[in-house]
Amino acid sequence: MCGIVGYIGKQSVSPILIKGLHQLEYRGYDSAGVALSGEAAEGIRVYKAKGKVANLEAKVETLSPEAQTAFTTGIGHTRWATHGEPSETNAHPHLSMNGELALVHNGIIENYQLLKEQLVGYGYTFKSQTDTEVLVQLIDYFYQKNGKQLTKAVNQALNKVIGAYAIVVMERENPNHLVAARKASPLVIGIGEQNAEFFIGSDATPLVEYTHKVIYLEDEQIADIRPSEAVEIINLDESSANVNIKDVDIDISALSKGGFPHFMLKEIFEQPHCIENSMRGRVIRREDGLYEIKLSALAHFKAKLIRARHVIIVACGTSWHAGLIGKQLIEEMCRIRVEVEYASEFRYRNPVIEKDDVVIAISQSGETADTLAAIQLAKEQGALVFGIVNGVGSSIARAADTGIYIHVGPEIGGASTKAFTGQITVLTMLSLALANALGTISEEQFQEICRELVEIPAKMEVVLKQNDTVERLSNRFTYARNFLYLGRGYNYPVALEGALKLKEISYIHAEGYPAAEMKHGPIALVDKEMPIVCLATRDQLYHKVISNMQEVQSRNGRILAIVTEGDEQVKRMAQEVVEVPATLNCLTPLLSVLPMQLLAYHVAVKKGLNVDMPRNLAKSVTVE
Ligand code: M6R
Repeated sequence: MCGIVGYIGKQSVSPILIKGLHQLEYRGYDSAGVALSGEAAEGIRVYKAKGKVANLEAKVETLSPEAQTAFTTGIGHTRWATHGEPSETNAHPHLSMNGELALVHNGIIENYQLLKEQLVGYGYTFKSQTDTEVLVQLIDYFYQKNGKQLTKAVNQALNKVIGAYAIVVMERENPNHLVAARKASPLVIGIGEQNAEFFIGSDATPLVEYTHKVIYLEDEQIADIRPSEAVEIINLDESSANVNIKDVDIDISALSKGGFPHFMLKEIFEQPHCIENSMRGRVIRREDGLYEIKLSALAHFKAKLIRARHVIIVACGTSWHAGLIGKQLIEEMCRIRVEVEYASEFRYRNPVIEKDDVVIAISQSGETADTLAAIQLAKEQGALVFGIVNGVGSSIARAADTGIYIHVGPEIGGASTKAFTGQITVLTMLSLALANALGTISEEQFQEICRELVEIPAKMEVVLKQNDTVERLSNRFTYARNFLYLGRGYNYPVALEGALKLKEISYIHAEGYPAAEMKHGPIALVDKEMPIVCLATRDQLYHKVISNMQEVQSRNGRILAIVTEGDEQVKRMAQEVVEVPATLNCLTPLLSVLPMQLLAYHVAVKKGLNVDMPRNLAKSVTVE
């Protein structure tokens, strides 16, 4: 959702904060702000700007060189509005009424109205419409009452709060002190050499260029941070908590565009390499030329996984689409019943979860609030929770009993691309390994799928070579106001994913449908203006999809078809065609989704839209 950065030490703080905010901008980008202080500076200085971090940067750059060096403590925030419109007033950091405290916050304070009324009763006034300003005033209320002990005041205030938060607070009286806390919203503290300085981030991205030693705060923990002292952590009940220092390893080059105009295009083109990474050390070719799959998560929880007669996949958005593919893979190979649930519905639905069930949680960020809540519910009911996550050390990775990282590297573009194919790759490996253990797949089938899986990166390269073709044909579709995406079998979730990609970055309304369902309603929309993307690769439903396409053709719909190389029949029916190499049915999505991603990308670029940071979207949805 929003992004938080913080720093305390001897360095000039504003360049560190601004750089960190740029790196976190993908999390939220309607406004940004920083609060600065330091021993050699007077009080807390706040800068805010509506829009991109660049607008804030321009303001902060007006600071004199002396002021730049005097400010050595600071907090910063890039916002994705939840309470109150995007504006400077509503941007973080928020100050307490007397200006003694400044605070940045991710999450939502659900009882903020009630708390606000109480604070108004104590004489507090408010400038913004945010829940965050209520929180800083509440902390100030206890701070003034308890002799200005900041950590204690934070603790007292958070005990009154219902909701989710990651916060960092600074105080005017002591510029050598920051207090951070979290509940259901991630926060990471990076430790500098000999504790001389500390870096804070809502994820590890802005910290890794300075340090690899980090502390992931746990829910309901409060950290007291002072340079040259070890971080102290207490729980909300005031008991002291263990400080677990972990090593984090993120490839910094993944945080730049590497010569591509947008992160999204870079991430689309990274996919062959990402899929190789995802399979590395897991799909193993033995000396005899046969394949085996090694997944440590499976080895450790084999008995429980084999016993499962019911799998529930919980996820949101693109990860949910990957889950629909996972359902087909697991059911086909393992003969286990699988349900795929939107995490947001599952968590409030009183679902039937048995002790022997396995709940697979899929998430790119590993921070999605609804998926985390679904995990909590599954754990309470005794199910084994298996995470398929990209964000290393993320909340979901830590909450799951076991799991598999997809290992595709940081995904910065607002629209998920490489995480989707990484998730499908992991689901394929998991299904194969489980089916092998269950004996529900023959050795020939197992070997055939493995052989074909390791060919996928090279076949992806072939698809990506058609980028120019997709760019050219996207010109013909920028006019459209509606799109229909049709697919069946393994290509049905790809149709959903194609429609989602187009919607989120080009702002064109698009719907994905199982092709055969079209005649039950959506066919009424088809006319000569309506582009229909048909996933018509050669699989067991190929001829059925052709019949569905004929229905479109006879109503003058404009067909863009994704076909298997060498297909002539569909070419005669479609206005535009993109070819993908032949592969096994179950692996088709890994190839057929690439033209979907490229199409959405080029249409959005042609429309002059901000591809990497689509309006209203947050990369990591840490509120429900
Ligand atoms: O980080 P997660 O995979 O849990 O995120 C789930 C969705 O928020 C995410 O896939 C979203 O739909 C993306 N914008 C898709 O491009």
